[in-house]
Amino acid sequence: MDCLVCHDTTGSYRKFPTACGDPVYKERKFGKKVFPAVDLRKVARKVGKTSRTTCGRCHFYGGGGDGVKHGDLDSSLFKAGKELDVHMDVKGLNYSCSTCHVARTHQISGRYYSRPAAGKHQFALPADDGWRLACESCHSRAPHKNIEILNHHTAKVACQTCHIPRYARGGVFTKMWWDWSTAGKFTAAGKPIVKKDKAGNVIYHSKKGDMRWAENVVPEYFWYNGRMSYLHEGDKVKPSARPLELNSLQGDYADKNARIFPFKVMRGKQPYDPVEQSLLIPYLFGKKGTGAYWADYDWVKACRVGMEEAGLPFSGKVDFIETAMYWPITHMIAPKEKALSCAVCHRRNNGRLENLRGFYLPGRDRWSFIDRSGWVLLGLTVLALLLHAGLRFVNSKRRQDGGKS
Ligand code: HEC
Ligand code: HEC
Ligand code: HEC
Ligand code: HEC
Ligand code: HEC
Ligand code: HEC
Repeated sequence: MDCLVCHDTTGSYRKFPTACGDPVYKERKFGKKVFPAVDLRKVARKVGKTSRTTCGRCHFYGGGGDGVKHGDLDSSLFKAGKELDVHMDVKGLNYSCSTCHVARTHQISGRYYSRPAAGKHQFALPADDGWRLACESCHSRAPHKNIEILNHHTAKVACQTCHIPRYARGGVFTKMWWDWSTAGKFTAAGKPIVKKDKAGNVIYHSKKGDMRWAENVVPEYFWYNGRMSYLHEGDKVKPSARPLELNSLQGDYADKNARIFPFKVMRGKQPYDPVEQSLLIPYLFGKKGTGAYWADYDWVKACRVGMEEAGLPFSGKVDFIETAMYWPITHMIAPKEKALSCAVCHRRNNGRLENLRGFYLPGRDRWSFIDRSGWVLLGLTVLALLLHAGLRFVNSKRRQDGGKS
């Protein structure tokens, strides 16, 4: 990356989508969008600290558009209010990305990948290398003053789970489903098809297939100890009833470092080779006649070029396989009043942790011994409350009568 992309403060230093990272030296058009030439002298004189704008220019638009990849990082955070994010609230704490993502010698903290470009693995859990960003770094593991039982939860439930009740809350939709197998349809006249939903999100595109979008989404919850394993190019895969996981989460209830953590699960269908049993890497963007899918619309040709470039075997057969990818949800922290309430998890049916099994969750699970002793406790508590209320009632009666007699 070049320096200015992060350190520009004028907002005028922009990249052209297909210029391999070059800025715009002469005004250029991309579709209907005009990219004005950048005044490099002006930009160079105005370098400064990074901001939500500089980081967000890339991270809010990953995957080819606003909010496409991350459900918790989109352009609504440029001007966040407290409802959307208590830390990035422009009228409140107004955190920049790097307030939390502390950088030492330009190694930005907060990496997930098992093959990071720099630095050690970092994750918002206790006992690690000491300089990671984590909710606990600022708040400690016992941040709750009024309700002590909440502090008991932090050993098994991640802060994010309770404090991000929903993601994509700022008015920008996030992509949830992307089916490449339906790409390549045209009108009778041979024109590309682009269909949008009421909110203006593209739900069909000849280049990309069918897509589904959502906002204000309830996350899915899984045990997670900060480590993921990744499917790599060339790895053998087989179709099965379950979608193929592009990344798999590690950790379970017994794991001391694991917490229940919220995720966006991006699902879809991608091209794969049923003979070689591996995911395919198609060549998408290029001129007509080069095999590029977005020009020639032929999956076999596009995959032949892509796989050759990647140096991987290709049988010449293209099928589609359903895939899933887990995206951690960790931004868009709501005000404390909006944190999940007890019943959302502890109720018997349709709780948010319905799919997480293998441990005892009071209220949801029935363990006859615990339940019976639980009922006895509850009975005693109710009795105590009744006695207390009864006394108060008698007392207040006395006080009311007191005036007269
Ligand atoms: C991915 C974004 C990114 C890129 C690219 C980047 N920086 Fe930085 N840089 C940061 C962050 C984050 C900080 C910490 C302070 C802040 O938020 O600006 C920083 C701090 C600095 C500082 C202040 C150092 C200090 O100790 O206070 C200098 C000087 C600097 N960068 C120069 C450069 C130069 C020169 C390049 C290109 C070779 C570059 N940066 C590329 C993100 C970036
Ligand atoms: C020019 C585009 C660009 C800019 C500007 C940029 N990033 Fe990134 N960032 C990337 C790319 C690309 C990756 C690698 C993503 C990947 O591997 O999928 C990345 C990776 C990261 C990661 C690790 C993600 C992970 O899942 O492991 C963090 C954290 C991060 N960036 C934070 C920042 C912060 C903070 C800033 C601003 C100081 C910033 N980035 C500016 C493009 C950018
Ligand atoms: C209140 C603190 C905070 C702020 C502000 C913040 N982040 Fe994060 N971010 C985190 C935490 C915590 C993680 C999880 C890190 C981990 O698990 O190691 C994270 C993770 C990430 C990741 C990893 C990839 C992923 O899938 O989530 C990226 C990329 C990222 N942040 C970018 C940004 C950008 C861009 C901004 C500014 C718009 C930003 N963050 C602002 C706390 C913050
Ligand atoms: C089981 C759900 C749950 C978990 C896990 C959880 N919180 Fe909370 N948190 C809440 C609720 C509910 C409130 C509102 C409490 C109130 O109204 O007094 C709250 C309040 C807060 C407050 C405001 C201070 C206060 O006492 O009201 C902060 C700060 C906070 N949480 C941070 C965190 C951090 C950091 C973590 C992880 C270490 C975390 N929380 C884990 C549910 C949770
Ligand atoms: C760089 C330090 C820092 C980090 C990292 C950080 N916070 Fe905070 N947070 C603050 C400060 C400062 C406040 C405002 C004072 C307070 O309420 O404690 C705050 C406030 C809060 C509040 C109370 C909001 C309200 O309604 O008043 C919650 C909830 C919260 N943070 C949760 C989190 C969670 C969850 C994470 C991790 C994703 C996190 N914080 C990471 C510094 C941080
Ligand atoms: C995000 C879901 C979630 C929310 C919200 C939540 N809990 Fe829990 N709670 C759990 C999980 C998971 C466990 C099991 C932890 C374990 O086995 O260590 C648990 C355990 C408990 C336990 C038994 C363990 C103990 O610490 O005594 C009690 C009691 C409890 N919760 C009460 C509450 C109350 C009261 C609230 C609201 C103030 C609440 N919970 C909110 C998920 C939640």
